[in-house]
Amino acid sequence: MTTTRPAWAPEGVDIERPAAARAYDYVLGGTHNFEVDRELARRLTEATPDLAQHARANRAFLQRCTRYLLRRGVRQFLDLGSGIPASGNVHEVALAVEPDTRVMYVDIDPVAVAHSEQILADVPQSAIIHGDLRKADEILDNPETRSLLDLDQPVAVLLLAILHAMSDADDPYDIVNRLMDRLAPGSYLVVSHSTFERRPEEARKMEELSKQSPTALRMRSRSDITRFFDGLEVVDPGITWVSQWHLEEDGGVFAADQSDMLLCGVGRKP
Ligand SMILES: C[S@@+](CC[C@H](N)C(=O)[O-])C[C@H]1O[C@@H](n2cnc3c(N)ncnc32)[C@H](O)[C@@H]1O
Repeated sequence: MTTTRPAWAPEGVDIERPAAARAYDYVLGGTHNFEVDRELARRLTEATPDLAQHARANRAFLQRCTRYLLRRGVRQFLDLGSGIPASGNVHEVALAVEPDTRVMYVDIDPVAVAHSEQILADVPQSAIIHGDLRKADEILDNPETRSLLDLDQPVAVLLLAILHAMSDADDPYDIVNRLMDRLAPGSYLVVSHSTFERRPEEARKMEELSKQSPTALRMRSRSDITRFFDGLEVVDPGITWVSQWHLEEDGGVFAADQSDMLLCGVGRKP
């Protein structure tokens, strides 16, 4: 059966192959996905029955860390691998609290970029560019990034549920180091990352299944994830589960979805 291309899918998108962004959108209840993405999401959910809970816990962490950083004076966010917009995107959380905040989104997925462009059309403080985290310098040097963000001032770099899409050959530690090197003191690194520490069997099945999509998953250990923060001051409570990080930032809005698949941390560049 051939899939018909809907209006929101740009020309050139391969709608016969699953994509991580669109499978994640489906898991979160979104509508920007195709049958191939839903099929992958269903198979991942068979392997990990709590998948949707992990995804929601990750989104709730995104919103809590945004509020936390705003309270520490951060007014610039660079959300890398931002995904297909879901509820509670960074600019929505930030602009509701601090209207002078600027948010730059980057994703490699054309559907994520196209849908973000639509949502951001009337939001001058935010923009999206198509970019590859593995070419971080190009992202920082992009004229759109430079017109929105002042790299001489602190920036919070958000790398949520994306570093586990980087293989060891991609050298994600070098990617993160080079990014942070170019940012001003007082900048923050935020990471959430899947791990096999608590559910090794489920994690292994997910890694296997994800090989069907162009972005195979590479789960890492707690110590591997901690290494991303080398040279940074990790804020309390250190590296912990996304569903446990600074619950007081919630304002009681998000029910605590327990998750023991994604670890997270926030580090400040001295
Ligand atoms: C699981 S989603 C996470 C979305 C969002 N960060 C969140 O935590 O809710 C991972 C996203 O990373 C994007 N991605 C994967 N590899 C990438 C790369 N090399 N450069 C930029 N984005 C990438 C995917 O397209 C997808 O939208």
